[in-house]
Amino acid sequence: MLVVLERGKNEVAEQAARIIAGSIRRNPAIRLGLATGGTMIGVYHELARLHREEHLDFSRVVTFNLDEYLGIPPSHPQSFRSFMQHHLFAHVNIPRNSIHIPDGTLTRDYDAYCEKYERAIRDAGGIDLQLLGIGRNGHIGFNEPMSSLGSRTRTKELSAETIEDNRKSFAPGEEVPQCAVTVGIGTSLETRRILLLATGQSKADAIAKSIEGPVSASVTASALQLHRDVTFLLDEEAASLLTQKPYYRHVLDMTRKLMPERLS
Ligand code: F6R
Repeated sequence: MLVVLERGKNEVAEQAARIIAGSIRRNPAIRLGLATGGTMIGVYHELARLHREEHLDFSRVVTFNLDEYLGIPPSHPQSFRSFMQHHLFAHVNIPRNSIHIPDGTLTRDYDAYCEKYERAIRDAGGIDLQLLGIGRNGHIGFNEPMSSLGSRTRTKELSAETIEDNRKSFAPGEEVPQCAVTVGIGTSLETRRILLLATGQSKADAIAKSIEGPVSASVTASALQLHRDVTFLLDEEAASLLTQKPYYRHVLDMTRKLMPERLS
């Protein structure tokens, strides 16, 4: 695991965008796994700027989003499709048919649909670079605590904590989704490279448990310890409970010298 300690959320977003942009330049037909949430807004903003000002070309990029709320239409302002359209897709040149986001309007045949989403990822050649955020309870995607670490794409009941966190994005009195379609932990562990971003004090406990705690279904991000190529991009607050920071800085210095392409 590579743990990159940055000062604040802007530096985290810029570093993430630098790695994604470098990966696109090296492999223009890259398959990206994308996430939504407040942490990602700065990253998408920077990618849009790189497209506009530095001609970063997304024309051969294929994307698969991690998750979508169940029970709201794509046109709903809080759907993850709307989020992606607003923050990224409207500003870059990814062809419409190269964009994949789980369908939150399903009302039946959930298993068949989720198997189809898994198959689409496989048929595209698998995900080269997966972007992840993390919930306060350590979830990645919507793999809430006690999700199977081998789980695949499926419907998932959201935890009370996640529903509360999501409530602030919905209008007062509006019903907040209770369930989502999410790719599984097993699905994410098959991606070739993972970038997990976390900023702010509210993520510090989940980050410490994910990086330095035991692998456990009670903190599903801890399963990333089993992945062969994961980079954590953290700001000072999110990293504040880590105990091995001098070592992470040493590893980062050596990585900059020996494998600079991992950071650009
Ligand atoms: C969203 C997703 C979630 C978020 C996580 C952090 O697609 O998969 O796991 O990444 O809930 O959200 P923020 O960034 O809003 O704190």
